[in-house]
Amino acid sequence: MEITKAVFPVAGLGTRFLPATKASPKEMLTVVDKPLIQYAVEEAIAAGVKDLIFVTSVHKRAIEDHFDKNFELEYNLEQKQKRELLEVVRNILPKGVNCAYVRQREALGLGHAVLCAKPLVGNEPFAVLLADDLISNPTGDGALSQMVAQYYYQKCGVIAVQNVPKKDTGSYGIVKTRQDESIEAIVEKPKPEKAPSTKAVVGRYILTPEIFTHLENIPTGAGGEIQLTDAIARLIKTQRLIAYPFEGVRYDCGDKLGFLMANFELAKQDPILGEKFIQRVKASMEKDKNR
Ligand code: G1P
Repeated sequence: MEITKAVFPVAGLGTRFLPATKASPKEMLTVVDKPLIQYAVEEAIAAGVKDLIFVTSVHKRAIEDHFDKNFELEYNLEQKQKRELLEVVRNILPKGVNCAYVRQREALGLGHAVLCAKPLVGNEPFAVLLADDLISNPTGDGALSQMVAQYYYQKCGVIAVQNVPKKDTGSYGIVKTRQDESIEAIVEKPKPEKAPSTKAVVGRYILTPEIFTHLENIPTGAGGEIQLTDAIARLIKTQRLIAYPFEGVRYDCGDKLGFLMANFELAKQDPILGEKFIQRVKASMEKDKNR
């Protein structure tokens, strides 16, 4: 079955970015000139996704507005003959791609957020993308496209992983894999001494609908939340799921430093701004050295 649906859990409070996130969603924080959520949406669309399912909460209207048509703005740009900008605005969502929104009424965890999407996903395999994890792969396919290819080839669920320093295992879901990359065990945020490996889950998943049954039945886990990781731990008892070390650089934009680095690196790569940006940064560093 094709992967045409993607779930974007965007209900989080974004407290790490206060005060920026007091009145606007963290998923709308910009990296260079696009909000974080748009990077994830573009990656999903490039991978063949047609139905975008956002799991939202209060104060997330800006996300809905961002992916909606803005007649006033388009009229204004048209009148002023700003064709390029008009195209930018119109292409945020290509034709044939639909958005649906469902509310997560209580902050009960990532697993619970994914479960809220069940009525919209139905009985088919689907992707989950966490916008906090911005994955850039300028010279190749996006991370989700690579995973979809694996899904077709291996005919099973796929979870993106990357190696992290042992001291950081407590920030991630950690997997133990067999030789064929199938997942043997998965634990949410284990302390380094308890971690089964240093292979960390990055926020991209291709899951089969059986995950919902497990999400409905698991007790609360790490942090008192319903964890997607715990449901996956049950799923792998009956289904093969592989861990996939994608190609690309992942920026942890749920963290201030990671977010700044994403801006820095993507600004350097920007076809219009890049050169000038590098020159300015170099000049600024020189100035600091000579102080
Ligand atoms: C979530 C998942 C975790 C995963 C991480 C990737 O954690 O629960 O398993 O490794 O995303 O970003 P969070 O970062 O929301 O605490």
